[in-house]
Amino acid sequence: MNVDVLLGLQWGDEGKGKIVDVLSAGYDLIARFQGGPNAGHTLEFDGKKFVLNTIPSGIFFDNTMNLIGNGVVIDPIALVKEIDMLKIAGHDLLVKGNLMISRKAHLILPTHLLLDVASEQKLGEDKIGSTLKGIGPVYMDKTGRNGLRIGDITLPDFEERYQKLVTKHTALLGTMYGEVVDFSEREEAFFAALKILSQFPLVDSEHIVNSYLKQGKKVLAEGAQGTLLDIDFGSYPFVTSSNTTTAGACTGLGIAPGKIGEVIGIFKAYCTRVGGGPFPSELTNGTGEEIRRTGKEFGAVSGRPRRTGWIDLPALKYAIMLNGVTQLVMTKADVLSGFEKIYVCTHYHHQGEVIDYMPYDICSAKPEPILKEIDGWNEDIMGITDTLQIPAKLMAYIDFLQKELEVSIKYLSVGPDRRQTISL
Ligand code: GDP
Ligand code: IMO
Ligand code: MG
Repeated sequence: MNVDVLLGLQWGDEGKGKIVDVLSAGYDLIARFQGGPNAGHTLEFDGKKFVLNTIPSGIFFDNTMNLIGNGVVIDPIALVKEIDMLKIAGHDLLVKGNLMISRKAHLILPTHLLLDVASEQKLGEDKIGSTLKGIGPVYMDKTGRNGLRIGDITLPDFEERYQKLVTKHTALLGTMYGEVVDFSEREEAFFAALKILSQFPLVDSEHIVNSYLKQGKKVLAEGAQGTLLDIDFGSYPFVTSSNTTTAGACTGLGIAPGKIGEVIGIFKAYCTRVGGGPFPSELTNGTGEEIRRTGKEFGAVSGRPRRTGWIDLPALKYAIMLNGVTQLVMTKADVLSGFEKIYVCTHYHHQGEVIDYMPYDICSAKPEPILKEIDGWNEDIMGITDTLQIPAKLMAYIDFLQKELEVSIKYLSVGPDRRQTISL
């Protein structure tokens, strides 16, 4: 058996949570492989809505196990809040026993959050637009070989190790920013949260995932963020701090590359981005505003308005190449209903040339999009349940994209609810 991977092909928020939930019943294990509480994965079913940050989106299925992988970074306070939210909604994970946590997942300390805030403040106008969840600083400590892992909480000298790292952080905060705000309350909450998390199975997840495969069980790796936010291939430095691509599933779970099965790439029928950085097909006019309003494009984590624009083919082709995408999912097609014309960015004008790829200097050169006009469709599609009900003009858009992207679109999402999903 191989591991299927599901990940975002744009700048995040493509609808990963919804689609993982739709597919979960067919898997034995859903495993998050990178990112942390910067993610906000929204699920809707039975009239209820949930936003998950660190917990995998298979959590609502009784026969599906969920794993927070070694590549994920955990803020204990945020994770316990999420666990409590689910408990109040009738899903007690300790009773259900359907959540495991990798011992090797790194911990976000209260001071990582302070460092994130301070570093963004220092950047001023050039700030990344981080979610301020401590992501950059915690991955810096991981690669700097200073980090603390959740498995370390059982070590007798855990508090000493914690103090050592905090001393380093406070010195940094002091020299860089002149003052260190009081974080004692958050520190208390941090240790209280760790106590609660220690009741969950802290496991050597690489062995578990591989033994699932050996037993012929089905595993789905759930990505966070999107390919264009990848630390290596995204619009650097306006990226997150992990590998959001298929390769990240290998390192973030301990799966050999040859064990990767289907790679399911998700994209919106248009494009959005939260935070700073280049966005060649961005719409800063009334049309962009209309997409934001109809698509309810406000961050699931920060509530910030998402920037909106037309679909970007050079970017999507790049993402498909990097990930080895074998199946596509298009979400939010319903949001474009009623537009007389829609547009697709097919190429860029860049340094006096027409190019069909994302250039290295995308941040400084600001390539201009070259747009192709496409007929829109007028029908409300949020209630359709069958391919036969797909309006002809939407079908033509789907066909055009499949031809350009050279991968089939397997599912079409026409609304936020689990049932609003059509298999093509
Ligand atoms: P994720 O981070 O990739 O899981 O995506 P988010 O949850 O941050 O953002 C996607 C938003 O779009 C959420 O509010 C979803 O409920 C919603 N959504 C997902 N698919 C569709 C769709 O096909 N149509 C509409 N209108 N909303 C959708
Ligand atoms: P999901 O999983 C959209 C963006 C931030 C910022 C940049 C760096 O819900 O798709 P970070 O906090 O990671 O240091 O921020 O990345 N970002 C996301 N944008 N969806 C996300 O996650 C994101 N996670 C981070 O807005 O531009
Ligand atoms: Mg999101």
